[in-house]
Formats: sequence, structure tokens, C-alpha cells
Amino acid sequence: MNETSLRSQGWFGRTGKDGFIYRAWMKNQGIPDEEFRGKPVIGICNTWSELTPCNAHFRELAESVKKGVIAAGGFPVEFPVMSLGETLIKPTAMLYRNLASMDVEESIRANPVDGVVLLCGCDKTTPSLVMGACSVNVPTIVVSGGPMLTGKYEGKNISTSDVWRFNDAVRSGQMTQEELTVAEACMCRSRGHCAVMGTASTMACMVESLGLTLPTNAAIPAADSRRKVLAQYSGKRIVEMVKEDLKLSDILTREAFENAIMINAAIGGSTNFVIHLLAIAGRIGVELELQDFDKLSFGIPLLANLQPSGKYFMEDFYYAGGLPAVMKELDGKLHDTAITANGRKLKENYSDAEIYNPDVITDTDHPFKNETGLAVIRGNLCPDGAVLKPSAASSHLMNHTGKAIVFENIEDYHARIDDPALDVDENSILVLKNVGPVGYPGMPEVGNMALPKKLLDKGVTDLVRISDGRMSGTGFGTVVLHVSPEAAKGGPLALVENGDLITLDVEKRSLELKVAGDILEKRKAAWKPAHNMQTRGYVQLYQQHVCQAHLGADLDFLTGGSGSTVTRDSH
Ligand code: FES
Repeated sequence: MNETSLRSQGWFGRTGKDGFIYRAWMKNQGIPDEEFRGKPVIGICNTWSELTPCNAHFRELAESVKKGVIAAGGFPVEFPVMSLGETLIKPTAMLYRNLASMDVEESIRANPVDGVVLLCGCDKTTPSLVMGACSVNVPTIVVSGGPMLTGKYEGKNISTSDVWRFNDAVRSGQMTQEELTVAEACMCRSRGHCAVMGTASTMACMVESLGLTLPTNAAIPAADSRRKVLAQYSGKRIVEMVKEDLKLSDILTREAFENAIMINAAIGGSTNFVIHLLAIAGRIGVELELQDFDKLSFGIPLLANLQPSGKYFMEDFYYAGGLPAVMKELDGKLHDTAITANGRKLKENYSDAEIYNPDVITDTDHPFKNETGLAVIRGNLCPDGAVLKPSAASSHLMNHTGKAIVFENIEDYHARIDDPALDVDENSILVLKNVGPVGYPGMPEVGNMALPKKLLDKGVTDLVRISDGRMSGTGFGTVVLHVSPEAAKGGPLALVENGDLITLDVEKRSLELKVAGDILEKRKAAWKPAHNMQTRGYVQLYQQHVCQAHLGADLDFLTGGSGSTVTRDSH
């Protein structure tokens, strides 16, 4: 790289009226000429927002990145993008993942940046930023915000997975509303994202596994000073990446995606990993399909004893050796020559790693569980596939036949789930329709439906549940998710009726609706599409263009990229 080859010089290195305009308005911020002329300009893409509590510390993190950029001879410019706070956004943050990715893509391409640092934290902020950046493909490094410290309640360690347990406890009368209010304050007691291996932590591990971060990024707690150190080093490193012209497409090879899938299996990552990784692969142009997740996960034992599949928390994971220690255990399986953001091969990043606490990170000879991360299920109920997380499921339900209790939509579920007259028992299978990408719209995390109160009262803790929706990465249970095609598009899920027999056989990876073909044909002929299609705005665009879950639920016109060139650029 030399000064004139910098992308930013297409703005700041110009002569005449255009160059004057590009520079003059930067100078109103009190920036001297030499700061942005001839230096790598590094965009810090910030999802800070007080409405995204998991990312509320990102202004401070951005300051650490800036120090690193400046120290390495670059010029940092921070810019905001749409931030998706999982807990507050209605109807679901997933509805806006693709919109946020468009914001990121266009913001990067339209502006004079040579490289980008993506500040990601809460669930959707990671995939949306990576997707958008992939479609531009300039040198990019990711800095995650880090998990919260472990929650403490009545002498116990708690975090987001306990929300589901507390909810069941309140409904069955084992916990009072007052106790629940106390627990609220005990759970989120520091900055950072959810402290279990939920979706945010899974995403942080995903970007480290893909090679998009510096080593150890995934698990350093947000409140740990080493998080700021990593941010500062990342700021330094992105300047070098610009000089080396190390782009996302150089790092995000098919091998990198395969590594991420194997590592995700070993840590028991969220089912949402599937949908986001497929979307990222689509943006960078790597062939990846749903079946790859099962094929590549097969034979990888679960090594991380972390909630929701296990006992411990992200803070423990970091102290036990973090993601590099898991990678080292997978040595021989991983593509160890995959290049990573620091310019080193993956193996160079994990070869010195150690397991400091074998209760938290086990070795491959003594795995925490043999069930791997994700099973891809097929059958006449999900011809394009569905996913289930065996490590979070109940072994007695892995091969199960039961009668369907059908809910036509989420409102129907809420209205009837606790009806004493509901004909449900411990063998029933709960089926929820119309919570897919188009049907809800936005594919919310409602797939791990809470159990009927009358079964909770009997001590039942799990049922087979099937839907075209998603599940929170913090959730658990024998839950079949992402059924594709979805009910709202006329998939077989739409044809299930109360009392139908369904067989789930996880070992055979099959999900079968035991209804004769001629009966299903009649039901199909009588089926009518859902009536909640929107007629304006982004949601209309989304419903018209969103792909099905097995393709990553991106918008069809966003697949691939447009590069970093701006052709019409005169004032
Ligand atoms: Fe943000 Fe869980 S709510 S990571």
C-alpha cells in the first residue's frame, strides 16, 4: 500500500472543488489537514445505544480502538449504525437484522474509509455488521463487547437461561413475583451481553473462529480491563491490515466457515448460529448449506460445560482458557492454516493455549457430552430442513411419537396454553405455526414455548416442540426449530392438525407427520395463506424478499456484494 492507493484518497486526496468540500467539512471538527490526508482512515462502526443495553459501553470501547489506530499511524472515524437491542425491540430484532446490514454496507461503501472495526455485542449486532461489511469487502476486524459478569442470586450463579426457569417457577407457584423482581437486579449486574453461551456469546465465538478477531476476543468479560486492551490492539492491527490489503474475502474462505461450524459444535453454540452463518456465507460468496452443519458437527464432542447446555458461564469460560483452549483440543480436525485477522494461521493462535479448569473446558478424551451442537432434521414435515440442539434436549424425547397440539399462531398459543381443558399430556407434541420469517414476520425466538401450567404442576420439564420460529440461544429443551418451508408459505407445517401423530427421531435426523398423503393433499387444497402481509415500508419489503430459514433468511437481493467502489462521486 502507498498513500495514493488508499481508498480514502479518493476523497481527501482530491484537488479542486470536490477535494475542498471533502476536507473543509472535516476540518470543522478541529482536525488538522495531515491527519486524514495520506493516513489509513479507519471507520469504527459502532452499535452503541442506550436502547441496546448489552452495547451501552461501546463509546468507551471505541476510545480504546481509537488509541490503537492512532498509535499505528491511522486516522480513526467513529460512525453509528442501526443498533439492535434484543430485549427491547419489538416485534423481534431478527426482523431488522437485514435492515441493519444494509445500513452497515452502505455506510462503509459511501464513506472515505480504508478499513473498518466492527463493534458488536448483543445477538443481532454481530451478524448484521459482518454481513454488511462482507458485501463491501474492505479490510475489517471485529471487536466484541464481551459478556456480563455472572449473575448472583441467593448464593447461586445465574444468567439469562434462568429467565426461563424463573418463569416456570413463578407459574407453578415456586417463586413469588417479589422474588422475581429481586432476581432481575441480580442477573444483569455489569456491562456486557448475556453471560451464557447464548446467541451473543455464540456470535462472539463465531467471529473468533472465522478468524475475524484477535485471539481471545470471544470471552473476555466486558468489565475486565483486558477487553479494552484487546480493543486497542485491534485498532492497531486494522491499520496494518489496510497496509497488507487483508480483506474479509481473504479470511472468510470455505475452510474458515468449516472451522466455525466445528468449533460451534464443541462449545454448544446457539441454534441461531446456523441462520447467521448461512447469511454471512451468502454475502461473501462461499458455498454453504444447512446439511454442512450436521456433517461437520458430527463426531465433535461437546467440550464446554456452559449454560444452557451445561453449568458454567462465559466468565468461567474465559478464566478456563477461552476459545483458544477449545480450538487446541480440536487440533487435527480444524483447518489449521486458515489465515486470521492478526495475519497468523489459526494454529499459531491456539498452539500455546491451555485448559486451566477441566470442569469448564474438557478435553476430547473426557468430553462434557458426546452429543454435538446441532442436528439438521429432515422429513415430510420439514422437506427443506429444521434444526435441533441435542445438547440442550432431553434424552428420553430424542426418539418420540406423540399427538400434535396445534397453535395456529403465537396469539392462539398464549390464549390456550394454560387452558385447563387443553388435551395435553407428557407425550404430546406442541406445534406452533406462523412464526417464520414471513409469517410473524421476522422469525422471533418463541420456538421454546413455555409448557402448559398443568404439566409443570405435575413435574414435567420438557415436551417435544416444533415450529418455524427460532429459539433464544439461552433456551433449552427438545425443540425443533427453523422448520422450512414455513407455514405462511404453505409448507407442510401449515397442514398439521390437532391429534395428528408426529415422530421425531433425532438419531435418524427425521421428523415425520404420520398422515396419509391423500389427506394432506386435501388439506393443502383447502389451505389459505396467512392474512398479515404488510402493505408499506420496510416490513413489506422484508416479507416480499426474505429467504427461508435454510438459506439464512437474508433478503434475496442482498445476497453477494457490490464491493467498495463508488462510481458516481462528483459534487
Ligand atoms: Fe443482548 Fe442477550 S440480550 S445478548
